[in-house]
Amino acid sequence: MDEKIIEYIKRRGAEIDKQIGEYLTDTASVRYLGSLLGRSGYEYDPKAISKAVIEPASYLLELGGKRWRPILMLTIIDALGKDSNNYTEFSIIPEVIHNGTLIHDDIEDNSGMRRGAQAVHKKYGIDVGLNLGDFMFFFPVVALLDSKKLTSESKMKILEIYQREMLKLSIGQATDIAWHRSLVDPYNVSESQYLQMAYSKTGVLAGMAAKIGGVLGGADDKTIEALGRFGASIGVAFQLQDDLLNITESGVAEGKGGRGEDITEGKITMLVIHALAEADEKGRKRLKEILMMHTKDRKLISEAIAIIGKCDSEEYTKNLEEKLVKDAWKNVERLLPDSEPKSILKSIAEFLINRSI
Ligand code: IPE
Ligand code: IPE
Ligand code: MG
Ligand code: MG
Repeated sequence: MDEKIIEYIKRRGAEIDKQIGEYLTDTASVRYLGSLLGRSGYEYDPKAISKAVIEPASYLLELGGKRWRPILMLTIIDALGKDSNNYTEFSIIPEVIHNGTLIHDDIEDNSGMRRGAQAVHKKYGIDVGLNLGDFMFFFPVVALLDSKKLTSESKMKILEIYQREMLKLSIGQATDIAWHRSLVDPYNVSESQYLQMAYSKTGVLAGMAAKIGGVLGGADDKTIEALGRFGASIGVAFQLQDDLLNITESGVAEGKGGRGEDITEGKITMLVIHALAEADEKGRKRLKEILMMHTKDRKLISEAIAIIGKCDSEEYTKNLEEKLVKDAWKNVERLLPDSEPKSILKSIAEFLINRSI
């Protein structure tokens, strides 16, 4: 992969980390709470807030992360001809929300590891995790509400984007949960239902980041919509790659509970859908059986992965990722003038599907 894009992601990621630090440092002080929540009227317990919000939030955020959603947002601002350095505080919106979804997701998926370490709910408890996820959905919007840089119209636009995309996200998670828990028959899920689910659970946050970038970059409504579609589509491709990396020997799999954790979860992925369609009767039956067991047995997990491998489902998924990114780029390319940030935008999309991190 192009070293330049890795370097870019690292550099911009550090800027975003700095912003996160500024918003979360000292967050439990009485002064800070006053500015965040308004006058207390009575008396906050800063130590309690520190223990149940600030400490676990810092734990997860300091474990790192690729920070690609806000990087996408900032790069779009640059590609629209504005200087993204003037808007870095807004990068906490997609990133902190994303971290909140990770906490909830690990509870929902019964997944004990995140970013190579204990998941928040394992370390701090489900009660703390659920509540912190909620906090992370609402807290970063303060950067928008308190901003003196933006017009009321821009703020309203961003709030509407935020509200609509968050709604879609919970529908995406609901669909995924219903499938892996067999609340409905998950083995008849079609490819387009899968893509819609991936769009809703993962695409929308990238779409949100891209659209906010569009508003901050001063784009017209049509361009903002197109940028949102671009972000969401590369988000879907990213999810496909994530599912692919889960069943291969990869750092991504290691950091999230080990190779084949998705098999334990009984997760319906494009790989599974393709394998169920392509396998012979025996293979199909066996794959379903193993998925339904929610097993941690390494031998069974390897057996399921072998069935998927035999069906060339990895290659199929990879090709689909490439097609998604290519089509997404085609639709957005003509909307932006040629520039360095524009070519970085393309490299970000390619990074998302070529990554092994
Ligand atoms: C993980 O997202 C969650 C999915 C949508 C698959 P990332 O891979 O972007 O997570 P971090 O922030 O880099 O850890
Ligand atoms: C992540 O979905 C989507 C959200 C967090 C909204 P997954 O469950 O597929 O991602 P990982 O594998 O746990 O990161
Ligand atoms: Mg998960
Ligand atoms: Mg999940």
